[in-house]
Amino acid sequence: MKYALVTGGSGGIGGAICIRLSEAGYNVLVHYNSNITSASKTLHQIEDNGGVGSLIQFNITNYKEVKDALEVWKQDHPDEYISVLINNAGTSKDVLMVWMEQTDWSSVIDTNLNGFYNITSALIKDMVINKWGRIINVVSLSGIKGLPGQTNYSAAKAGIIGATKALAQEVSRKNITVNAVAPGYITTEMTKDLDEKQLKKLIPANRFGTPGDVAELVVFLAGDGSSYITGEVININGGLYT
Ligand SMILES: NC(=O)c1ccc[n+]([C@@H]2O[C@H](COP(=O)([O-])OP(=O)(O)OC[C@H]3O[C@@H](n4cnc5c(N)ncnc54)[C@H](OP(=O)(O)O)[C@@H]3O)[C@@H](O)[C@H]2O)c1
Repeated sequence: MKYALVTGGSGGIGGAICIRLSEAGYNVLVHYNSNITSASKTLHQIEDNGGVGSLIQFNITNYKEVKDALEVWKQDHPDEYISVLINNAGTSKDVLMVWMEQTDWSSVIDTNLNGFYNITSALIKDMVINKWGRIINVVSLSGIKGLPGQTNYSAAKAGIIGATKALAQEVSRKNITVNAVAPGYITTEMTKDLDEKQLKKLIPANRFGTPGDVAELVVFLAGDGSSYITGEVININGGLYT
């Protein structure tokens, strides 16, 4: 059974990805940082459906914390490796650049972009040694188009897109694919304060996406059937921007 780690499994999109990966037969590591209640709920749902998984906690901005948590997992699973990594944990701190504090900038870069490094660098060697892997990075429309009020977040997500394309070329000979999915507006905690009624008028599909919409795409990219797709950024935004 393949092991899949979903960072931010306690969140809206991450939770849906955990459940769909479990349905597809993966042993899922549901990651959380602060919200153990939500992560546990997702794990219970997996188990109630007959799947298997476990919880894992770390703050993705802390390199040592990430490494230590994975070291514990590796010691408990000496003959296994995590072959699917979903880099989904993320945060935003929306503010116009003229008002942006240094911490607004650094906290968003630390979580999204440095977080990508901290976890990916910890798992990529095992994928290379085992000659099979999937890395799927959850980026955003903001990282492609740029959105006002999100200079920090757009920069972080655009940075991950660059990393996706570079890393894909480094590891594709080892049967490891690296792709990004770029959601538009998805109904989760992150978008709860947005005016959905107004914004959906801009979306050709006339609705916000659901976490399940994103999970379907991620599960496809995690499987064997996507082996010739790498270095791609796939939009999932109801036609808002292509
Ligand atoms: N919702 C959208 O419309 C949308 C659109 C485009 C892209 N995205 C991207 O989709 C991903 C998931 O977002 P979501 O909408 O599902 O948001 P969400 O429900 O707020 O979930 C965010 C997740 O990130 C985790 N996280 C935040 N800071 C962390 C840290 N320092 N260390 C470890 N984990 C951390 C949270 O963990 P805890 O709660 O346990 O602390 C939570 O599981 C993000 O990368 C986001 O940028 C979302």
